[in-house]
Amino acid sequence: MIRRPPRSTPKPSSAASDVYKRQVPEPSRGASIKLGDSMKGVVLAGGLGTRLLPMTRVTNKHLLPVFDRPMIYYPLQQLTSADIDDILVVTGGDHAGDFLKALRNGQDFGLNHLRYAYQEGEGGIAAALALAEDFAGGEPIVVILGDNLFEDSLAPLIHEFQRNPIGAMLLLKEVDDPDRFGVAAVEGDRVVSIIEKPSEPETNLAVTGCYMYDSRVFDVIRGLTPSERNELEITDVNNQYIAWQEMRHIKLKGWWTDAGTRPSLHHAANLVAESRENPVLSGRRVVGELESSGGD
Ligand code: DAU
Repeated sequence: MIRRPPRSTPKPSSAASDVYKRQVPEPSRGASIKLGDSMKGVVLAGGLGTRLLPMTRVTNKHLLPVFDRPMIYYPLQQLTSADIDDILVVTGGDHAGDFLKALRNGQDFGLNHLRYAYQEGEGGIAAALALAEDFAGGEPIVVILGDNLFEDSLAPLIHEFQRNPIGAMLLLKEVDDPDRFGVAAVEGDRVVSIIEKPSEPETNLAVTGCYMYDSRVFDVIRGLTPSERNELEITDVNNQYIAWQEMRHIKLKGWWTDAGTRPSLHHAANLVAESRENPVLSGRRVVGELESSGGD
């Protein structure tokens, strides 16, 4: 166990300063960080899925099919392909019980058990993540949004963080429609700010829905206030690690998509259909080195 005080907060870029004036929480001074090989996985599958009505009247968004399996299989496959076998699924809404029927104890993924947490309402991604604090038990975590699909195995990138599990790590992807996402501004080799769904994006670098954090993430979440859309924003969490200068990032080469809207759900199914030999999409376990996968 080491103790490491956060560094001083740099001035955010002008684009970010207006947006984050109210939101950057007080640093959690003196928070302890656990080091070690183990890392736990969290899949966030809460929210009400209103963008996918009427399908989400009968089940949770993350159980809708993407090509040949439920959406949530893809993030779970990413975690197990990285040898993460202690996994919490955070869900919510009226159909939370459907997860037990679909996933049971995780045997489709080679797991002996899965853990579940229930999010009341739709308080945001960071609010859903807050429910993982006891589960994390002070260890570093890798978080994947339940509606995110990645072409590349994330195993080498997760292992990279596992080797040095201090601070946080983001996976970025160049996209044509950055205004739908959190967008990163980069100076040199550093991310200097993230703006959530900017109307005039500074770059085309979307922040994908895979995040790695040390144990201070829960202190950061405690300091957040709700955004204009009344959610605790994961972008605010990430901006705190950026302010501490403890945010690393990797740019993905393979395709990445969410599946949370009608067009993106359709697009995701097509991408998977075109990638049938892909070992991680088809659920075969792959563990490789950083150089051989999506990182650059
Ligand atoms: O897909 C990547 C994007 O995801 C990032 O670029 C954005 O920075 C991030 O805010 C997020 O944006 P979205 O607006 O697309 O997030 P959405 O509300 O669709 O939620 C994505 C997943 O997060 C959802 O499938 C389940 C989980 N979630 C979301 C909310 C709002 C929860 O578990 N609980 C929640 O309350």
